[in-house]
Amino acid sequence: MNEQTANQTSQVTTPTQQPPTFSEIYQSSITQPQEFWAQQAKRIYWHKEPEQILDDSNLPFAKWFVGGETNLCYNCVDRYLPERAEQDAFIWLSSEVNQELIATFPAVVDAFNDLGNNVEFYTDYTKRRLTYNDLYKEVNYFADVLQRNGIRHGDRVVIYMPMILEATYAMLACARIGAIHSVVFGGFAAHNLAIRMDDAEAKMIITVDAGLRGGKVINYKSLVNQGIEQATVKPEHVLVVDRGILPFKPQPLDVDYATERSISRNANAIVEPVWIESNEPSYLLYTSGTTGTPKGVQRDTGGHAVALATSMDYIYDGQAGETFWAISDIGWAVGHSYMVYAPLLAGMTSVVYEGLPHRPNPGIWWRIVEANKVNILFTAPTGVRMLKKQDETWMTRYDVSSVKSFFLAGEPLDESTAQWLKQHLGVPILDHYWQTESGWPILSNTPKFNHKPHKQGSPGYPMYGYDAHVINEETGEPCAAGEKGLLAIRAPLPPGCLTTVWRNDERFISSYYSLFDGKQYSTSDYAVVDEDGYFHILGRTDDVINVAGHRLGTQEIEEAISTHPEMAECAVVGIHDELKGELPIAFCVLRDQALVATTENRFRLEQQIIGAVVKSLGGIARPAAVYFPPALPKTRSGKILRRAIRALAEGRPTGDMSTLDNPAAIDAVKQAMKDY
Ligand code: PRX
Repeated sequence: MNEQTANQTSQVTTPTQQPPTFSEIYQSSITQPQEFWAQQAKRIYWHKEPEQILDDSNLPFAKWFVGGETNLCYNCVDRYLPERAEQDAFIWLSSEVNQELIATFPAVVDAFNDLGNNVEFYTDYTKRRLTYNDLYKEVNYFADVLQRNGIRHGDRVVIYMPMILEATYAMLACARIGAIHSVVFGGFAAHNLAIRMDDAEAKMIITVDAGLRGGKVINYKSLVNQGIEQATVKPEHVLVVDRGILPFKPQPLDVDYATERSISRNANAIVEPVWIESNEPSYLLYTSGTTGTPKGVQRDTGGHAVALATSMDYIYDGQAGETFWAISDIGWAVGHSYMVYAPLLAGMTSVVYEGLPHRPNPGIWWRIVEANKVNILFTAPTGVRMLKKQDETWMTRYDVSSVKSFFLAGEPLDESTAQWLKQHLGVPILDHYWQTESGWPILSNTPKFNHKPHKQGSPGYPMYGYDAHVINEETGEPCAAGEKGLLAIRAPLPPGCLTTVWRNDERFISSYYSLFDGKQYSTSDYAVVDEDGYFHILGRTDDVINVAGHRLGTQEIEEAISTHPEMAECAVVGIHDELKGELPIAFCVLRDQALVATTENRFRLEQQIIGAVVKSLGGIARPAAVYFPPALPKTRSGKILRRAIRALAEGRPTGDMSTLDNPAAIDAVKQAMKDY
C-alpha cells in the first residue's frame, strides 16, 4: 500500500456494495479474521506491507501483521501534513493555570515562551492550540532531544507528567524513534515509580518541576528523586520540563528540556521515523492484578495503530476534522488510546484538559465543549456524578449542540447518572466496557451502525474481533441467558490488545489464560448476557477495586500497610461508594491489640496507616476507613476471606461460610466497625 492510498479508510463491503451492517462486520471479523483485519490495515500507512496478517501458531501469543513495518508517530502526525497542517491536533486547556496561579508563579508565563508558546491566557484558564504542523515540529525537536541524550530504538523511557502537551510530545517522540514509553499516572507516588523504573529498566525519566491539582502544587521532581533513590536500576538521565512553578535546581542526572529544545529548534531538527516491525512493543502500561506487583501490559505497534484507527470509525464514529475529548488522564489506558493515539490516527483534534470537573465552577466542561465545538466526549462516570451534585443550571448555560455522543467507561454507569446526562445533553449516552489490557472497547454500542438501541445497565454487545462470551467458571461451558459467569474471550485477541506481560510470558499465561484449554482470555469480570444479547458487567472476580474509574489492587494497598512496624496482618476491601464507585477500607490486625485501647491511640495509628498508603501509592489509594479487629476471618488453609469482610463492611449477609476456620473473627470484624 502506498502513501496515497493510506489515507483512504476502507470498509468491509457486501456483494451489493451496500455499507455493511454491524452484524455483517462482526461475523466477518470472527469467521474470517485475516480478511477482515487485512481490510482494516489499509487505514494506516505501512512502510513495508505485512507478510502475514495473523500468526496464531503459538496461542495465546498472537502476532498481527507479521513482517509489516510502520511507525505510530508517522501515522499520527506526518501523514496528515499534506491535508491538515493548519488544523488543530491538540487543544490544551488548563483551569489550574489561571491568573491567580500566574500571580503567584510569574515564571509560568516565561516557561510557555521557552516551550513554544501558542498560548492564550484567560482569567480562569489557559489555552494552548497546536496545529498538526506545530505538533510535527515539536515532536521532531523532542525526538532529537531524546536521541542526543542517548535514547535509541528499544530503550524504555518512563514518563511521569501531568496533563500538559509536552507529555504527548514525549509519547509521540518515543514512538518516532522506536523507544518504548511507560507512562506513570501522576497520582502515583515514589514507590510506584520505582517499581516501574526497575521492571522496565528505564534509561530515562521524563518529568516536570510540578503538577497542579485543585490549586495545590505537587512536587513531581521531588517524587522522581525519591523514586530513583528507591529504584535498583537508575536512569541515565532525567529530562525535566520546567513549568516555572517550583524552583528547578538541576542535579547530576537532570537535563533541562527548554535548553535542549532550543538547540534542536535552532538546528531545525528533523528526525526520520524509525520503521518498526508490527509486533515490536510500542509501550508498556502497568496495571493492577491480584498480586502486589503491577503487570506491565505490553502493546504492539502495527496492531495497536490498526485497532485504534478502526475503533475511532466503527465504534466512536469519529471522523477526520472532528473534535474528540477524552476527559481522562494520560497515565491511564483511556488517555493513551483516546486522548493521544486514536484521535490523531484519525486526523481529528484532541482536547487535553488539566483540571478538575468543578473548578473554577461546575460549568467548565460545558464551557470547553462550547468554545471548542467538541463532537464526541468520553469519560468515567465518577466525574459526571461529581457534577450531578452541583447546581443543574451549569449545564444549561452553554451551547453544547456540537456534541453527538457521550461515551462512558471504566466503571458501572448507574441509571440516574446516565439519565441526568441524557436529559441535559439530549444525545446518546453510551456505556461501553474495556480494559487496560484490551486498549480499545470489548463491549460497546455503535451509533454509526444503528445496530441495537442502547439499553440502560448494559455496556452493549461484543465488538468485532472479540469472540466474547460468558462461561461457567468451573466447567468452562457457555452460560445460558440470565446466568452469571465469567466474561471470557476466545484467543486470539484482536489486534491492539496486550501481546504479553513485559518480560514475563509466564505471568501473561497465569494471569489471563490459566482457564480450561488455555485459549480463553479471562477478563476477570463476572457478567451475564440477557435475552436480547446485551451483556451486563457484575464486578471483578479478583481483588481489584475501582476507585473513581481507577483500577487498584487491594494487595498493593495491603503491602503498603504492612510496612507499618506494628502490623501483624491486614485485609483491604473495596466498598460501594455513591460518588466514586468504590473506596478502599482497611482491616488491620496489630501485633499488640492494646495499642488501640484508647481512641487517641487508635486515631494516631489510623493516620500513620493512611500516611503509609499515601506515601507509597499516592492519594488515590487512601483508605476511607481503618478498622482494628483482633482477627480476620480465614479459611482452614489460612486464606483471608475478603469477600466475607466486604459483605460485613457493606452490611450484607456473608453468604457461604463453610470454609471459615475461625467463626469468632466475624464478630470481631463487626465489633471493630462499631468501635470506630
Ligand atoms: O472491571 C471492569 C471495569 O474496569 C476494569 C478495567 O479497568 P482499566 O484496566 O482501568 O481500564 C479501563 C478502560 C476503560 C474492567 O475489568 N470496567 C470498565 N468498563 C466498565 C467496567 N465496569 C462496568 N462497566 C463498564 N462500562
